[in-house]
Amino acid sequence: MNSSPPPDVWSAWLLHRRHANDPQFDRRVRTATARYADRVLDAARLSAGMTLVDLGAGDGLVGLRAIERTAGALRVLMTDISLPLLDAARARAAQAGVLASCEFLHCAADALAPIADATADAATARATLAYVADKAAALRECHRILRPGGRLSLAEPIFQDEALAASALRSAVAARPADSADDFLPLLHRWKAAQFPDTPERIAANPTVNFSERDLLSLVHGAGFRDVHVELHLDVTYGAVTCWDVFLDTAPHPLAPTLREILTRDFTGDEGARFERIMRPIVESGNAVTTDRIAYVSATKPPG
Ligand SMILES: C[S@@+](CC[C@H](N)C(=O)[O-])C[C@H]1O[C@@H](n2cnc3c(N)ncnc32)[C@H](O)[C@@H]1O
Repeated sequence: MNSSPPPDVWSAWLLHRRHANDPQFDRRVRTATARYADRVLDAARLSAGMTLVDLGAGDGLVGLRAIERTAGALRVLMTDISLPLLDAARARAAQAGVLASCEFLHCAADALAPIADATADAATARATLAYVADKAAALRECHRILRPGGRLSLAEPIFQDEALAASALRSAVAARPADSADDFLPLLHRWKAAQFPDTPERIAANPTVNFSERDLLSLVHGAGFRDVHVELHLDVTYGAVTCWDVFLDTAPHPLAPTLREILTRDFTGDEGARFERIMRPIVESGNAVTTDRIAYVSATKPPG
């Protein structure tokens, strides 16, 4: 019998939770991520006949777009730790009629053993290294599999500022006078602290938030790459979500609980009602702010 692997945290995120199962929000997210993938691929400098390895390929965003951009004249190795996502990528490749251009490898970004030394022309990762504890090992693996002159191109979310904001909220709550009438600040802190570490020790220990674009630059350089180029893109958006139910069901990254999960698990009924009274009008009026911080890093493995 042909049985599909059970969903995991990664497939649940990409296929459902990232867009709160809302088709309209899904279209918005996919438009944005397609733009990120194009930037990654511009810097990868692909051409016909090349081999691309995409780390943490998910459901094939970067790999399938790369094949489309080279009119199918590309070999793409999509690697991921998630079997359900490798299946989803395979299904999308079949639907697009490009299965013959693809291989699907079940391996971690820091252990690319199925890929031989110096066999790839480009290595890409989009929102993958953020979830890899040993980023230096992953970048050494990219260096190993690339041929001399091969290109590395990354786009990674930088979540450090969100964690620092949660940490600042923790300090602000602790500094309030004991008789403070402000009962919203602690609720705000509990929401943010459920999604991001909020102490210096927890931030330092969490691979998703403990690095900046400058750390990525040092790591890429330290792995042996040259011509390292980093661009940090900061985008502030108002009203990305204006439907309260969608807002409740979204989370900022795959490992974070949704607001609805936090309210159900950590808040009393009264606290939840107070929180909604303040936040819901902000969301529904289009005044909720989202800040995306994405580091684009590209580099070359030195020739010879
Ligand atoms: C946010 S998703 C991004 C997926 C895809 N790159 C995209 O841009 O749509 C993170 C991906 O990284 C994968 N992942 C997480 N940890 C990984 C690891 N240690 N090694 C390889 N892939 C990993 C997940 O399975 C998931 O596919």
